[in-house]
Amino acid sequence: MENDNKRVIIFDTTLRDGEQSPGASMNTAEKLRLAVQLEKLGVDVIEAGFPAASDGDFDAVSQIAAKLKRAQIAGLARATRSDIDRAWEAIKHAAHPRIHTFIATSDIHLEYKLRMNREEVVQAAVAAVKHARSYTDNVEFSAEDGSRSDWDFLCRVFEAAIDAGATTVNLPDTVGYAVPDEFGNMVRHIYQNTPNIDRAILSVHCHDDLGLATANTLTAIQAGARQAEVTINGIGERAGNTSMEEVVMALHTRHNHLGLETGINTEHIHASSRLVSMITGIMVQPNKAIVGANAFAHEAGIHQDGMLKNPMTYEIMRPETIGLSQTQLVLGKHSGRHALRNRLKELGYELSEEELDLIFAKFKTLADKKKHIVDEDLEVMVTEGILRTSDIFKLDYLHVTSGTTVLPMASVELSINGRPARNAGYGNGPIDAAFNSIAKLTGTQSELLRFTVSALSGGTDSQGEVTVRLRENGLVALGKGADPDIITASARAYVNGLNRLEYLKANPVKDRQGL
Ligand code: KIV
Ligand code: ZN
Repeated sequence: MENDNKRVIIFDTTLRDGEQSPGASMNTAEKLRLAVQLEKLGVDVIEAGFPAASDGDFDAVSQIAAKLKRAQIAGLARATRSDIDRAWEAIKHAAHPRIHTFIATSDIHLEYKLRMNREEVVQAAVAAVKHARSYTDNVEFSAEDGSRSDWDFLCRVFEAAIDAGATTVNLPDTVGYAVPDEFGNMVRHIYQNTPNIDRAILSVHCHDDLGLATANTLTAIQAGARQAEVTINGIGERAGNTSMEEVVMALHTRHNHLGLETGINTEHIHASSRLVSMITGIMVQPNKAIVGANAFAHEAGIHQDGMLKNPMTYEIMRPETIGLSQTQLVLGKHSGRHALRNRLKELGYELSEEELDLIFAKFKTLADKKKHIVDEDLEVMVTEGILRTSDIFKLDYLHVTSGTTVLPMASVELSINGRPARNAGYGNGPIDAAFNSIAKLTGTQSELLRFTVSALSGGTDSQGEVTVRLRENGLVALGKGADPDIITASARAYVNGLNRLEYLKANPVKDRQGL
């Protein structure tokens, strides 16, 4: 179908579906920081969370709603009065609030999960949308597992939801089952068989179980959908969601073919990707489209030769378009507070005087150990020094002895809720010794599922960046830490992982019912 509307709405769900990536919990300060970045990036709608799922979610959504002024702030709610009331309570102070309510429509979900018949689902959808409309005129309705639903039933549900007041209807490929031509045909079927579809925006929300989320989303857009639900770096439940940067850059780069626009400021894509990876601890694979470390690296001689003659020989996008500058601005020992403040501002961090004092002190300490301070170093300072200030455990001191002839030993000092605690312990290596001492001090019994080390930036003096994945009583959390010394970076990552586990313990998810 021809859709004259050339503007594609970008609905970002990094803070909701993205946070459902195993281990990717974020604290409220981190969520707020990310929300500010998403607004700067230019996303139209920020799905800030699922307020009924946990008190932590509710809190974060309320704070984001109160802070942001330009983007629409969506709160997710199942099709029940209590979820919708809770979502509204969280977003009611937003400049542009949106309630996003959903119910499953596939026969398999109806029979085994909801134990409802089709008529009951239509009634529940209508009641939910009407209740949401009693609060706001910006209501989105999603047909969960839409891609596996009967096409005509789906049209019936959408028609009823639009009649009840839904202004956006969303078709999710919840389990990542769709393939592009089928999904495109489904969108066309909806347009042709939902009589009032012209009164709503048709949206799509894809998961990447078969690696087809971006392809499905683009095909749906070509078939007339005008909202894409996406996450930064494609993080999300299982194999993740459609990646924001892939959809946006495909629309941007292939404007000649697709002829569609978004409101995204593409030069903020790289910084947004870094921030999500830093906050969640989920690393971006090097060969990831658009934001992977190798996305603009040309290895083959013949490619390099062509690039030197004219970058367009092998490059379809300029790195600057996504905010990757070739020449990194470098700060050093002699840079002052003013230069630091300016660079932080350019990176999107507006700090108070007190916060700047703290970061400046950290900056001076690092500059004594490392000649060039790059953006990645600054990001770590802010993440560790400011966004994680609500943490229960803090690493204050670490001393390790290790080598071929001594038993590896670690002395650790932590503050636990502000009170100092000390311990020393052995291990089969310095990291094991440090982790054992920290576990003893914190009284935690997590299992280390994964441990990875990489360099934060180039150069042998780069800070080491460590990611750990921890599990305790069925809860999984990622932790990240950086330091020029990789044992210290490991201890920081471990402590960060333990803090995230504490956050999960304190904010149990009440019920995500199949989400
Ligand atoms: O994947 C899904 O179906 C969802 C809905 C709540 C939109 O995340
Ligand atoms: Zn989803």
